[in-house]
Amino acid sequence: MSNNATNQIGLEKADISEVIAKLNGLLSSYHMFYINVRGYHWNVKGEHFFSLHEQFEELYTNLQVEIDEIAERILTLGGTPLHAYSDFAEHTRISEDKNVKDGNSCAQGVVTGLQSLIEEQREVSELAEKAEDQGTADLVDDYIQQQEKLVWMYNAFLAN
Ligand SMILES: [Fe+2]
Repeated sequence: MSNNATNQIGLEKADISEVIAKLNGLLSSYHMFYINVRGYHWNVKGEHFFSLHEQFEELYTNLQVEIDEIAERILTLGGTPLHAYSDFAEHTRISEDKNVKDGNSCAQGVVTGLQSLIEEQREVSELAEKAEDQGTADLVDDYIQQQEKLVWMYNAFLAN
């Protein structure tokens, strides 16, 4: 099945190296968003504390699972997942969100982060389809769908 030009799952190495690079960018964005959401979970104050504290925990727990799936997809494609904070900081599309305590600001940070992930994943999906990498496209398409629903729910909370 595999020759010098294809990887262990029969995809063209030259095309897949671009998908791997794009997935490493996404992995970096996920890590930055993950730590932002942990900050919201820890620091949120105010009347919605109990519900938001719990919602943020559910969100970062899911992000942690997705982080692992993305990293292992990179390995499946024959790449090496980034695994250092300095690399994540260099490649993330999401910025650090520090010292946010107000519930609405935390929820807005979640919406902004999710919107950024959705946009980045649409690019990953398009590139993966071009490389005939349906597995990667399906993986991120699933995340997109779940995160789109979360954008609606957080915006409903914010009445945006
Ligand atoms: Fe906690």
